[in-house]
Amino acid sequence: MGAPLPAEGAEQTVTPVVLGGARGGPSVPTLRKDRYWVQPVVTAAVLASFVVYASWAAFVNKNYFVGASANRDLISPFYSPCLATSCVPGSHIGPSISWWTLSPALLILIFPLGFRMTCYYYRKAYYRAFWLAPPACAVSDAHGSYSGETRFPLIFQNVHRYFFYFGLIFNVILTYDAFASFRWLGDGTGISVGTVVLFVNATLLWLYSLSCHACRHLCGGGVKQFSKAPVRYRLWKALTPLNGKHMLFAWMSLCFVAFTDLYIRLVASGAIHDYGIHF
Ligand code: FES
Repeated sequence: MGAPLPAEGAEQTVTPVVLGGARGGPSVPTLRKDRYWVQPVVTAAVLASFVVYASWAAFVNKNYFVGASANRDLISPFYSPCLATSCVPGSHIGPSISWWTLSPALLILIFPLGFRMTCYYYRKAYYRAFWLAPPACAVSDAHGSYSGETRFPLIFQNVHRYFFYFGLIFNVILTYDAFASFRWLGDGTGISVGTVVLFVNATLLWLYSLSCHACRHLCGGGVKQFSKAPVRYRLWKALTPLNGKHMLFAWMSLCFVAFTDLYIRLVASGAIHDYGIHF
């Protein structure tokens, strides 16, 4: 049922709507009585913890590879591919860069980091959690104006699709690392907890990438008639359910990639043993 019409002759109030105009600011109250702030607080805590841990792991430049001395071939996803000449022996594949003297992780982390930072889901999450823009639905923006992602620096968020392509290359490399971990260097083949950890990590990263909005658009976007593009239609149909779970895969893969680094770090430092079965 709609609102009753004003009586004939009664004074009418007109509320002007200004698109892209003032958004309120911190002094505008909300009618929400629930604990809407819990989600942004948890998001900020988890993301900040990840950034602190990943930065430390990237700069520390040790204990990222478990090699022949422990009869294993396990490399941390933060350091793979290890491209610098200074990489621990056995940890790098392909050509090496001799002039790089800092941690080899710093050579590559821009790609997975850029992929996550520009992700459509994470954008929503950190805009809400860190910039309170807005912190939740029906809660006013903490800022007085809004320019969206139309200006520097946020306009660079549009590079997401390119980071997606780089992300696929990293997924292939990390999947290779998972298969390589069946090699027990100097001791044939086997399967260990580290192998399982690397496979779960690679699987979650694939699920995160394949559920990406840019991936779904790449497969099914811009098609006027699906009947004329059956392969793209099938791809789009297969990816759409994954896309619906993108947020879940984003958090699972984020937490697990940190756990994978931590596990390999603990094994490499001798703090724990990587139990397994020798074939
Ligand atoms: S939208 Fe999240 S990875 Fe592309």
